[in-house]
Amino acid sequence: MSSVWQKEDSSWADPSLLVGLPMAVRAALMLNVPKIIDSAYPKLSLSAEEICKHVPTTREHTPKSENLEKILDWLCCNGIFSLIIEEGDDGSKAKRYAHSPKSRCLSRDHTADMLLMYTSPELTRVWPHAHEIVLSPDVSPFEIVTGKNMYTYLAVDAPQVQKLYVRGLNATAIPSLSLLEKYDETFKALKGRVVDVGGQEGTMCAGLVAKYPHLQFVNFDQPEVVRGAPQIPGVEHVGGSFKESVPEGNLLIMKFCLLNWDDETCIGILTNCRKALPVAEGGKMLILERLDRSTEATDAHNEVARTGSLWSNFHGTVLLSGARTRTVEQFRRLALAAGFSQLEFVNHCPGFDLLEASLSPSGHSQ
Ligand SMILES: C[S@@+](CC[C@H](N)C(=O)[O-])C[C@H]1O[C@@H](n2cnc3c(N)ncnc32)[C@H](O)[C@@H]1O
Repeated sequence: MSSVWQKEDSSWADPSLLVGLPMAVRAALMLNVPKIIDSAYPKLSLSAEEICKHVPTTREHTPKSENLEKILDWLCCNGIFSLIIEEGDDGSKAKRYAHSPKSRCLSRDHTADMLLMYTSPELTRVWPHAHEIVLSPDVSPFEIVTGKNMYTYLAVDAPQVQKLYVRGLNATAIPSLSLLEKYDETFKALKGRVVDVGGQEGTMCAGLVAKYPHLQFVNFDQPEVVRGAPQIPGVEHVGGSFKESVPEGNLLIMKFCLLNWDDETCIGILTNCRKALPVAEGGKMLILERLDRSTEATDAHNEVARTGSLWSNFHGTVLLSGARTRTVEQFRRLALAAGFSQLEFVNHCPGFDLLEASLSPSGHSQ
C-alpha cells in the first residue's frame, strides 16, 4: 500500500532545529561535556559552573558558564542531556544538567569521533554544495570544494580528520566480526592468506588474527593510509590501489568500500578481487555493506538499518560521486560482471549486511 504526506506540520520547520542541533552537539563534544558529567559519578547532575571547571582549555580566562548554559539548554530542549531545575527555599532556581539516553551515546568515543568528523570544518564546508549531486552528478560536492577525492584528501591534507574517521570506523569492526562468526568453520579450515581489501588501518585483521592465528592476514589500503597504520603481529600492511590490483589471497574480505563507487568502478574493483583468488580451488569474497533499504517500510524493527542505509546513500554521494547503496540483485549483477560465479546474501545486523561472492573451482562464472 502506498502512503503520502497529508497534513501540514510546521512545528519542525524552525531553522534552528534543522541547522543548530548538530553544531550544538559539536560544541558540547569540543567542551567534553558528556565525559565531564560521566566523571562526576556518583553525582548525576552538574551545574554549568561545575562543568566549566573541567572543560579542556589553554586560555587564561575562566570559561563562561552562562554561555555553556545556552548550549546545554538548547540541547536539553531537544532531548540531548536533561535539565533539572532545583528550587531553593528562597524561591531561587538553579539549573543542573544530567545525561539523557541520547547524550549518553555521546560519551562513547567512536560516536563522538564520528560526530566530530562530520561536523569538522573540512567536511561542513562541503554541505552548502549538496544540491550539486542533482545538478552536477559527475563531480561530488567534496571534489568541487577540495579538488580531490575524499580518501586522498583525508589521508594527505587532513590527517587529524582522518584519525577521527579511522577511530569512528574502528568501532564498526565489532559488529562486523560478529557477523563473520558465521564463517568460523571456514576460517578454521582455511590455509594461507586472508586479505582485507580497503581495510584502512587493519582493525578487522587485528580482530581476525587474534581468533585465527594460523592464517596470514594482509591489510590492503591506499599507501598513505597503511603508512600510518599501527604494527599488528600477524598482519602485513600492503599499500596500493584496488583499482589496479589486489594482493593474492585464499579468502578476501571487503567492508564498506563498494558503496563509495559507481557500477563501472565496482566491476573493475571486483574483477581485481576475483583475479586475486585461487583459480584452481575457487574462492570466496566476504562483502560487508549497507544494502539499499529505501523502499522498505519504516518500522521500529528495521529503523537503525534503514536510517543508516539512507544516510549512507545521501551523504556518501555528497562526499564521493557515484557512491550509492545497492540491493542484493544489484550487487549480484556487479559480481557476475566481474567474473564471480555467484553472489548471495548471508546475514545482517543493524547497519551491516554480509554478502558472499564466490568463484566456482573452474574459475569461470556459471
Ligand atoms: C569507508 S572506508 C572503509 C574502511 C574499512 N574497510 C572499514 O570498514 O573500517 C573505505 C576504505 O577504502 C580505502 N580506499 C579508497 N580508495 C582506495 C583504493 N583506490 N585502493 C585501496 N583502498 C582504497 C580508503 O582508504 C578507506 O580505508
